Amino acid sequence: MHRLTNKRIILGITGGIAAYKSAELTRVLKGAGADVRVVMTAAATEFITPLTLQALSGHPVHLHLLDTAAEAGMGHIELAKWADLILIAPASADFMARLATGQGDDLLTTLCLATDAPICLAPAMNQAMWRDSSTQHNRTLLESRGVRLFGPGIGEQACGDTGAGRMLEPLELAELASQCFSSGSLSGKTVFITAGPTREPLDPVRYLSNHSSGKMGYALAEAAIEAGARVKLITGPVALTYPDRVECVQVETAQQMLEAALNNLEQCDIFIAAAAVADYRPTAVAEHKIKKGAEEIMELHLVKNPDIVATVANHSERPFTVGFAAETRDLVDYARSKLERKNLDLVIANDVSQQGIGFGSDDNAVTLVSLDSVTSLPQTSKRQLAVRLISEIAKRANAVALNS
Ligand code: PMT
Repeated sequence: MHRLTNKRIILGITGGIAAYKSAELTRVLKGAGADVRVVMTAAATEFITPLTLQALSGHPVHLHLLDTAAEAGMGHIELAKWADLILIAPASADFMARLATGQGDDLLTTLCLATDAPICLAPAMNQAMWRDSSTQHNRTLLESRGVRLFGPGIGEQACGDTGAGRMLEPLELAELASQCFSSGSLSGKTVFITAGPTREPLDPVRYLSNHSSGKMGYALAEAAIEAGARVKLITGPVALTYPDRVECVQVETAQQMLEAALNNLEQCDIFIAAAAVADYRPTAVAEHKIKKGAEEIMELHLVKNPDIVATVANHSERPFTVGFAAETRDLVDYARSKLERKNLDLVIANDVSQQGIGFGSDDNAVTLVSLDSVTSLPQTSKRQLAVRLISEIAKRANAVALNS
Protein backbone atom coordinates (compact mmCIF):
# COMPACT_ATOMS: atom_id res chain seq x y z
CA MET A 1 0.00 0.00 0.00
CA HIS A 2 3.06 2.31 0.26
CA ARG A 3 2.49 3.10 -3.43
CA LEU A 4 -0.36 5.37 -2.37
CA THR A 5 2.00 7.77 -0.61
CA ASN A 6 1.48 11.30 -2.02
CA LYS A 7 -0.93 9.98 -4.63
CA ARG A 8 -3.83 12.26 -5.54
CA ILE A 9 -7.07 10.33 -5.53
CA ILE A 10 -10.54 11.53 -6.41
CA LEU A 11 -12.98 9.33 -4.53
CA GLY A 12 -16.30 9.46 -6.37
CA ILE A 13 -19.34 8.37 -4.38
CA THR A 14 -22.62 7.56 -6.10
CA GLY A 15 -26.02 6.71 -4.65
CA GLY A 16 -26.16 3.33 -2.94
CA ILE A 17 -26.29 1.90 0.55
CA ALA A 18 -22.61 0.89 0.30
CA ALA A 19 -21.81 4.65 0.43
CA TYR A 20 -21.52 4.26 4.20
CA LYS A 21 -18.31 2.26 3.57
CA SER A 22 -16.84 5.19 1.60
CA ALA A 23 -16.18 6.96 4.89
CA GLU A 24 -13.90 4.10 5.99
CA LEU A 25 -12.38 3.95 2.50
CA THR A 26 -11.45 7.65 2.75
CA ARG A 27 -9.80 6.96 6.11
CA VAL A 28 -7.84 3.96 4.72
CA LEU A 29 -6.65 5.87 1.63
CA LYS A 30 -5.56 8.83 3.77
CA GLY A 31 -3.84 6.47 6.21
CA ALA A 32 -1.86 5.03 3.29
CA GLY A 33 -0.57 8.53 2.50
CA ALA A 34 -2.91 9.53 -0.33
CA ASP A 35 -4.36 13.02 -0.76
CA VAL A 36 -8.10 12.37 -1.18
CA ARG A 37 -10.68 14.74 -2.69
CA VAL A 38 -14.25 13.51 -2.50
CA VAL A 39 -16.83 14.09 -5.24
CA MET A 40 -20.42 13.04 -4.51
CA THR A 41 -23.42 12.71 -6.80
CA ALA A 42 -26.74 14.13 -5.60
CA ALA A 43 -27.99 10.59 -4.86
CA ALA A 44 -24.92 9.81 -2.74
CA THR A 45 -25.77 12.67 -0.37
CA GLU A 46 -29.04 10.84 0.47
CA PHE A 47 -26.95 8.02 1.99
CA ILE A 48 -24.07 9.82 3.70
CA THR A 49 -23.44 13.49 4.46
CA PRO A 50 -20.75 15.55 2.71
CA LEU A 51 -19.74 16.82 6.16
CA THR A 52 -18.59 13.33 7.19
CA LEU A 53 -16.45 13.02 4.07
CA GLN A 54 -15.11 16.55 4.48
CA ALA A 55 -14.01 15.78 8.05
CA LEU A 56 -12.32 12.52 6.99
CA SER A 57 -10.67 13.78 3.80
CA GLY A 58 -9.68 17.16 5.26
CA HIS A 59 -11.02 18.98 2.18
CA PRO A 60 -14.40 20.41 1.15
CA VAL A 61 -16.47 17.88 -0.78
CA HIS A 62 -17.18 18.67 -4.44
CA LEU A 63 -20.88 18.35 -5.21
CA HIS A 64 -21.98 20.42 -8.20
CA LEU A 65 -20.72 20.99 -11.71
CA LEU A 66 -21.99 24.54 -11.86
CA ASP A 67 -20.81 25.79 -8.48
CA THR A 68 -19.03 29.13 -8.84
CA ALA A 69 -17.49 29.00 -5.35
CA ALA A 70 -16.02 25.51 -5.95
CA GLU A 71 -14.84 26.51 -9.44
CA ALA A 72 -13.02 29.48 -7.92
CA GLY A 73 -11.18 27.04 -5.56
CA MET A 74 -10.34 24.09 -7.80
CA GLY A 75 -12.35 24.04 -11.03
CA HIS A 76 -13.54 20.75 -12.49
CA ILE A 77 -10.92 20.66 -15.28
CA GLU A 78 -8.19 21.48 -12.77
CA LEU A 79 -9.51 18.69 -10.52
CA ALA A 80 -9.51 16.25 -13.46
CA LYS A 81 -5.86 17.11 -14.17
CA TRP A 82 -4.91 17.05 -10.49
CA ALA A 83 -5.94 13.40 -10.04
CA ASP A 84 -3.52 10.49 -10.32
CA LEU A 85 -6.49 8.13 -10.03
CA ILE A 86 -10.29 8.35 -9.94
CA LEU A 87 -11.87 5.66 -7.78
CA ILE A 88 -15.65 5.51 -7.77
CA ALA A 89 -16.93 3.54 -4.80
CA PRO A 90 -19.70 2.68 -4.73
CA ALA A 91 -20.44 2.82 -8.46
CA SER A 92 -24.19 2.38 -9.01
CA ALA A 93 -25.78 0.77 -12.09
CA ASP A 94 -27.03 4.20 -13.12
CA PHE A 95 -23.56 5.74 -12.88
CA MET A 96 -22.04 2.90 -14.93
CA ALA A 97 -24.72 3.47 -17.60
CA ARG A 98 -24.06 7.20 -17.73
CA LEU A 99 -20.30 6.69 -17.91
CA ALA A 100 -20.66 4.02 -20.62
CA THR A 101 -22.72 6.38 -22.79
CA GLY A 102 -20.23 9.24 -22.33
CA GLN A 103 -22.60 11.56 -20.50
CA GLY A 104 -21.29 14.65 -18.74
CA ASP A 105 -24.43 15.68 -16.90
CA ASP A 106 -22.93 16.06 -13.42
CA LEU A 107 -19.56 16.78 -11.84
CA LEU A 108 -18.42 13.16 -11.51
CA THR A 109 -19.18 12.08 -15.08
CA THR A 110 -17.59 15.31 -16.37
CA LEU A 111 -14.42 14.62 -14.39
CA CYS A 112 -14.25 11.12 -15.86
CA LEU A 113 -14.54 12.56 -19.38
CA ALA A 114 -11.90 15.23 -18.74
CA THR A 115 -9.23 13.22 -16.96
CA ASP A 116 -6.16 11.37 -18.26
CA ALA A 117 -5.91 9.49 -14.96
CA PRO A 118 -6.95 5.84 -14.67
CA ILE A 119 -10.59 5.33 -13.67
CA CYS A 120 -11.59 2.49 -11.35
CA LEU A 121 -15.11 1.48 -10.38
CA ALA A 122 -16.24 -0.53 -7.38
CA PRO A 123 -19.72 -1.60 -8.47
CA ALA A 124 -22.34 -2.01 -5.75
CA MET A 125 -25.92 -2.93 -6.50
CA ASN A 126 -28.58 -5.58 -6.10
CA GLN A 127 -27.49 -8.92 -7.58
CA ALA A 128 -30.29 -8.90 -10.19
CA MET A 129 -29.29 -5.41 -11.31
CA TRP A 130 -25.67 -6.55 -11.64
CA ARG A 131 -26.68 -9.60 -13.71
CA ASP A 132 -28.98 -7.53 -15.92
CA SER A 133 -27.88 -7.57 -19.56
CA SER A 134 -27.72 -3.75 -19.77
CA THR A 135 -25.37 -3.54 -16.80
CA GLN A 136 -23.23 -6.34 -18.21
CA HIS A 137 -23.14 -4.59 -21.59
CA ASN A 138 -22.05 -1.34 -19.91
CA ARG A 139 -19.42 -3.21 -17.92
CA THR A 140 -17.93 -4.73 -21.10
CA LEU A 141 -17.98 -1.35 -22.82
CA LEU A 142 -16.24 0.38 -19.92
CA GLU A 143 -13.61 -2.35 -19.58
CA SER A 144 -12.91 -2.16 -23.32
CA ARG A 145 -12.09 1.54 -22.79
CA GLY A 146 -9.60 0.78 -20.03
CA VAL A 147 -11.85 1.45 -17.03
CA ARG A 148 -10.93 -1.02 -14.27
CA LEU A 149 -13.60 -2.76 -12.22
CA PHE A 150 -12.82 -3.76 -8.63
CA GLY A 151 -15.35 -6.46 -7.76
CA PRO A 152 -18.18 -6.66 -7.08
CA GLY A 153 -17.96 -9.20 -4.26
CA ILE A 154 -20.41 -12.03 -3.72
CA GLY A 155 -22.45 -12.46 -0.56
CA GLU A 156 -25.41 -11.31 1.45
CA GLN A 157 -26.79 -7.95 0.38
CA ALA A 158 -28.42 -5.11 2.32
CA CYS A 159 -31.73 -5.87 0.58
CA GLY A 160 -31.66 -9.49 1.83
CA ASP A 161 -30.67 -11.09 -1.52
CA THR A 162 -27.51 -13.13 -1.91
CA GLY A 163 -25.24 -12.98 -4.97
CA ALA A 164 -22.73 -10.80 -6.84
CA GLY A 165 -23.12 -7.06 -6.27
CA ARG A 166 -21.57 -6.27 -2.89
CA MET A 167 -18.99 -3.51 -2.85
CA LEU A 168 -15.53 -4.81 -1.91
CA GLU A 169 -14.28 -3.86 1.55
CA PRO A 170 -12.32 -0.58 1.94
CA LEU A 171 -9.01 -2.36 2.60
CA GLU A 172 -9.38 -4.51 -0.52
CA LEU A 173 -10.25 -1.44 -2.60
CA ALA A 174 -7.26 0.52 -1.29
CA GLU A 175 -4.94 -2.39 -2.08
CA LEU A 176 -6.32 -2.67 -5.63
CA ALA A 177 -5.97 1.10 -6.07
CA SER A 178 -2.35 0.94 -4.95
CA GLN A 179 -1.66 -1.74 -7.58
CA CYS A 180 -2.59 0.80 -10.29
CA PHE A 181 0.63 2.65 -9.48
CA SER A 182 3.03 -0.21 -9.87
CA SER A 183 4.33 -0.58 -13.41
CA GLY A 184 7.51 -2.25 -12.24
CA SER A 185 9.12 -1.18 -15.53
CA LEU A 186 12.22 0.07 -13.69
CA SER A 187 12.35 -2.66 -11.12
CA GLY A 188 15.93 -3.14 -9.90
CA LYS A 189 17.23 -0.09 -11.81
CA THR A 190 19.00 2.92 -10.35
CA VAL A 191 18.02 6.30 -11.77
CA PHE A 192 19.79 9.62 -11.20
CA ILE A 193 17.71 12.73 -11.89
CA THR A 194 18.82 16.37 -11.84
CA ALA A 195 16.14 18.96 -11.05
CA GLY A 196 15.61 22.65 -10.43
CA PRO A 197 17.92 25.58 -11.15
CA THR A 198 21.55 26.10 -10.23
CA ARG A 199 22.70 29.26 -8.47
CA GLU A 200 26.01 30.78 -9.44
CA PRO A 201 27.18 33.24 -6.74
CA LEU A 202 28.49 36.70 -7.58
CA ASP A 203 29.13 37.73 -3.99
CA PRO A 204 27.80 36.61 -0.57
CA VAL A 205 24.29 37.95 -1.30
CA ARG A 206 23.78 37.73 -5.08
CA TYR A 207 23.67 34.97 -7.65
CA LEU A 208 22.80 34.17 -11.28
CA SER A 209 19.95 31.68 -11.69
CA ASN A 210 16.74 30.94 -13.62
CA HIS A 211 13.03 30.23 -13.11
CA SER A 212 13.12 26.43 -12.85
CA SER A 213 10.80 25.29 -10.03
CA GLY A 214 11.97 21.67 -9.98
CA LYS A 215 8.41 20.41 -10.61
CA MET A 216 9.32 18.43 -13.74
CA GLY A 217 12.34 16.74 -12.15
CA TYR A 218 10.53 15.96 -8.90
CA ALA A 219 7.55 14.48 -10.81
CA LEU A 220 10.00 12.26 -12.72
CA ALA A 221 11.57 11.13 -9.44
CA GLU A 222 8.16 10.13 -8.07
CA ALA A 223 7.21 8.32 -11.26
CA ALA A 224 10.53 6.45 -11.30
CA ILE A 225 9.98 5.34 -7.70
CA GLU A 226 6.52 4.11 -8.63
CA ALA A 227 8.05 2.16 -11.51
CA GLY A 228 10.25 0.34 -8.99
CA ALA A 229 13.55 2.24 -9.37
CA ARG A 230 16.03 3.34 -6.72
CA VAL A 231 16.25 7.09 -7.26
CA LYS A 232 18.92 9.69 -6.51
CA LEU A 233 17.50 13.19 -7.00
CA ILE A 234 20.18 15.85 -7.38
CA THR A 235 18.32 19.06 -6.73
CA GLY A 236 19.07 22.72 -7.00
CA PRO A 237 17.35 25.11 -4.56
CA VAL A 238 13.55 24.77 -4.95
CA ALA A 239 10.49 25.23 -2.75
CA LEU A 240 9.23 21.64 -3.06
CA THR A 241 9.02 18.85 -0.49
CA TYR A 242 11.36 15.94 -1.17
CA PRO A 243 9.50 12.95 -2.62
CA ASP A 244 9.25 9.91 -0.36
CA ARG A 245 11.74 7.05 -0.70
CA VAL A 246 14.13 9.14 -2.80
CA GLU A 247 17.76 9.86 -1.93
CA CYS A 248 18.01 13.64 -2.24
CA VAL A 249 21.30 15.46 -2.75
CA GLN A 250 20.97 19.24 -2.38
CA VAL A 251 23.31 21.36 -4.46
CA GLU A 252 23.59 25.03 -5.42
CA THR A 253 26.07 25.40 -8.25
CA ALA A 254 26.63 23.56 -11.54
CA GLN A 255 30.00 22.35 -10.29
CA GLN A 256 28.37 20.83 -7.18
CA MET A 257 25.68 19.26 -9.39
CA LEU A 258 28.37 17.66 -11.57
CA GLU A 259 30.18 16.29 -8.52
CA ALA A 260 26.93 14.73 -7.21
CA ALA A 261 26.15 13.30 -10.66
CA LEU A 262 29.56 11.62 -10.95
CA ASN A 263 29.45 10.27 -7.40
CA ASN A 264 28.66 6.51 -7.70
CA LEU A 265 27.87 6.92 -11.41
CA GLU A 266 28.88 3.27 -11.92
CA GLN A 267 25.66 2.32 -10.04
CA CYS A 268 23.46 4.43 -12.31
CA ASP A 269 21.44 2.71 -15.06
CA ILE A 270 19.53 5.76 -16.29
CA PHE A 271 20.49 9.42 -15.98
CA ILE A 272 17.80 12.08 -16.58
CA ALA A 273 18.88 15.73 -16.72
CA ALA A 274 15.79 17.86 -16.04
CA ALA A 275 17.71 20.62 -14.25
CA ALA A 276 18.13 24.06 -15.78
CA VAL A 277 21.85 24.43 -15.29
CA ALA A 278 23.48 27.85 -15.66
CA ASP A 279 25.71 27.67 -18.73
CA TYR A 280 28.09 30.27 -17.26
CA ARG A 281 29.23 31.37 -13.80
CA PRO A 282 31.09 34.50 -12.64
CA THR A 283 34.85 34.07 -13.13
CA ALA A 284 35.33 35.05 -9.47
CA VAL A 285 33.06 35.27 -6.42
CA ALA A 286 33.60 38.50 -4.49
CA GLU A 287 34.45 37.91 -0.84
CA HIS A 288 32.29 40.87 0.26
CA LYS A 289 29.08 42.38 -1.10
CA ILE A 290 29.85 44.27 -4.32
CA LYS A 291 29.25 47.99 -3.72
CA LYS A 292 27.44 50.28 -6.11
CA GLY A 293 30.02 52.52 -7.82
CA ALA A 294 29.86 55.72 -9.85
CA GLU A 295 29.90 53.89 -13.21
CA GLU A 296 26.59 53.51 -15.15
CA ILE A 297 27.50 50.18 -16.68
CA MET A 298 28.93 47.24 -14.83
CA GLU A 299 30.61 44.37 -16.63
CA LEU A 300 30.39 40.82 -15.40
CA HIS A 301 32.98 38.30 -16.49
CA LEU A 302 31.66 34.80 -16.87
CA VAL A 303 33.27 31.44 -17.50
CA LYS A 304 31.61 28.36 -19.00
CA ASN A 305 30.24 25.78 -16.57
CA PRO A 306 30.88 22.07 -17.13
CA ASP A 307 28.13 20.39 -19.16
CA ILE A 308 26.82 17.82 -16.69
CA VAL A 309 24.70 15.65 -18.97
CA ALA A 310 27.37 15.61 -21.69
CA THR A 311 30.03 14.62 -19.12
CA VAL A 312 27.83 11.72 -17.97
CA ALA A 313 27.01 10.66 -21.54
CA ASN A 314 30.70 10.53 -22.45
CA HIS A 315 31.83 8.78 -19.26
CA SER A 316 33.36 5.30 -19.42
CA GLU A 317 30.57 4.08 -17.06
CA ARG A 318 27.95 5.68 -19.28
CA PRO A 319 24.31 5.01 -18.26
CA PHE A 320 21.34 5.40 -20.62
CA THR A 321 21.38 9.20 -20.76
CA VAL A 322 18.39 11.49 -21.25
CA GLY A 323 18.63 15.27 -21.60
CA PHE A 324 15.97 17.94 -21.73
CA ALA A 325 15.99 20.78 -24.25
CA ALA A 326 14.40 24.09 -23.28
CA GLU A 327 13.72 25.78 -26.62
CA THR A 328 11.71 28.72 -27.89
CA ARG A 329 11.63 27.72 -31.60
CA ASP A 330 12.64 24.92 -34.01
CA LEU A 331 12.11 22.40 -31.19
CA VAL A 332 12.97 19.22 -33.08
CA ASP A 333 16.01 20.60 -34.94
CA TYR A 334 17.62 22.01 -31.79
CA ALA A 335 16.76 18.86 -29.82
CA ARG A 336 18.38 16.70 -32.52
CA SER A 337 21.53 18.80 -32.50
CA LYS A 338 21.73 18.50 -28.66
CA LEU A 339 21.21 14.73 -28.97
CA GLU A 340 24.21 14.43 -31.27
CA ARG A 341 26.48 17.10 -29.73
CA LYS A 342 26.05 15.76 -26.17
CA ASN A 343 25.99 12.07 -27.20
CA LEU A 344 22.56 11.47 -25.60
CA ASP A 345 20.19 8.54 -26.04
CA LEU A 346 17.07 10.68 -25.87
CA VAL A 347 16.17 14.36 -25.69
CA ILE A 348 12.89 15.59 -24.19
CA ALA A 349 12.22 18.96 -25.77
CA ASN A 350 9.84 21.54 -24.34
CA ASP A 351 8.83 24.88 -25.80
CA VAL A 352 9.52 27.24 -22.91
CA SER A 353 8.11 30.25 -24.78
CA GLN A 354 4.56 28.83 -24.56
CA GLN A 355 2.26 30.11 -21.79
CA GLY A 356 1.22 27.48 -19.25
CA ILE A 357 4.02 24.98 -19.86
CA GLY A 358 7.75 24.76 -19.19
CA PHE A 359 9.38 26.79 -16.40
CA GLY A 360 7.40 27.01 -13.16
CA SER A 361 4.05 25.78 -14.48
CA ASP A 362 2.14 22.69 -13.33
CA ASP A 363 1.73 21.47 -16.93
CA ASN A 364 4.12 20.58 -19.69
CA ALA A 365 4.00 19.32 -23.29
CA VAL A 366 7.06 17.65 -24.82
CA THR A 367 8.53 16.10 -27.91
CA LEU A 368 10.80 13.08 -27.51
CA VAL A 369 13.64 13.05 -30.00
CA SER A 370 15.96 10.07 -30.50
CA LEU A 371 18.18 9.09 -33.41
CA ASP A 372 15.36 7.22 -35.14
CA SER A 373 12.11 8.71 -33.83
CA VAL A 374 10.16 11.84 -32.91
CA THR A 375 7.18 11.46 -30.55
CA SER A 376 5.00 14.30 -29.27
CA LEU A 377 3.14 14.09 -25.95
CA PRO A 378 0.35 16.68 -25.56
CA GLN A 379 -0.05 19.13 -22.67
CA THR A 380 -0.99 17.61 -19.35
CA SER A 381 0.11 17.92 -15.71
CA LYS A 382 3.82 17.36 -15.07
CA ARG A 383 2.87 14.51 -12.73
CA GLN A 384 0.92 12.65 -15.40
CA LEU A 385 3.47 13.46 -18.08
CA ALA A 386 6.25 12.13 -15.86
CA VAL A 387 4.52 8.74 -15.60
CA ARG A 388 4.34 8.55 -19.40
CA LEU A 389 7.94 9.74 -19.79
CA ILE A 390 9.25 7.18 -17.32
CA SER A 391 7.42 4.44 -19.18
CA GLU A 392 8.93 5.63 -22.52
CA ILE A 393 12.42 5.93 -21.01
CA ALA A 394 12.14 2.49 -19.36
CA LYS A 395 11.05 0.89 -22.65
CA ARG A 396 13.98 2.40 -24.55
CA ALA A 397 16.60 1.81 -21.84
CA ASN A 398 15.48 -1.81 -21.37
CA ALA A 399 15.68 -2.38 -25.15
CA VAL A 400 19.26 -1.01 -25.22
CA ALA A 401 20.22 -3.20 -22.22
CA LEU A 402 18.79 -6.29 -23.97
CA ASN A 403 20.79 -5.62 -27.15
CA SER A 404 24.11 -4.97 -25.41
O1 PMT B 1 11.74 22.96 -13.19
P1 PMT B 1 10.41 23.29 -13.85
O2 PMT B 1 9.88 24.64 -13.44
O3 PMT B 1 9.40 22.19 -13.68
O4 PMT B 1 10.65 23.43 -15.41
C1 PMT B 1 11.07 22.32 -16.16
C2 PMT B 1 12.14 22.69 -17.15
C3 PMT B 1 11.60 23.66 -18.21
C4 PMT B 1 13.34 23.33 -16.44
C5 PMT B 1 12.60 21.33 -17.81
O5 PMT B 1 11.51 20.74 -18.45
C6 PMT B 1 13.74 21.54 -18.78
O6 PMT B 1 13.56 21.83 -19.95
N1 PMT B 1 14.99 21.36 -18.29
C7 PMT B 1 16.22 21.66 -19.04
C8 PMT B 1 16.45 23.13 -19.07
C9 PMT B 1 17.74 23.48 -19.76
O7 PMT B 1 18.64 23.93 -19.13
O8 PMT B 1 17.76 23.16 -21.03
P2 PMT B 1 19.05 23.40 -22.01
O9 PMT B 1 18.49 23.26 -23.37
O10 PMT B 1 19.73 24.70 -21.67
O11 PMT B 1 20.03 22.21 -21.65
C10 PMT B 1 20.01 20.96 -22.34
C11 PMT B 1 20.30 19.81 -21.39
O12 PMT B 1 21.64 19.93 -20.91
C12 PMT B 1 19.41 19.74 -20.18
O13 PMT B 1 19.15 18.39 -19.93
C13 PMT B 1 20.27 20.34 -19.06
O14 PMT B 1 19.95 19.77 -17.79
C14 PMT B 1 21.66 19.92 -19.51
N2 PMT B 1 22.75 20.80 -19.08
C15 PMT B 1 22.80 22.09 -19.54
C16 PMT B 1 23.89 22.88 -19.19
C17 PMT B 1 24.89 22.34 -18.36
N3 PMT B 1 25.94 23.06 -18.00
N4 PMT B 1 24.81 21.08 -17.92
C18 PMT B 1 23.75 20.30 -18.26
O15 PMT B 1 23.66 19.14 -17.83
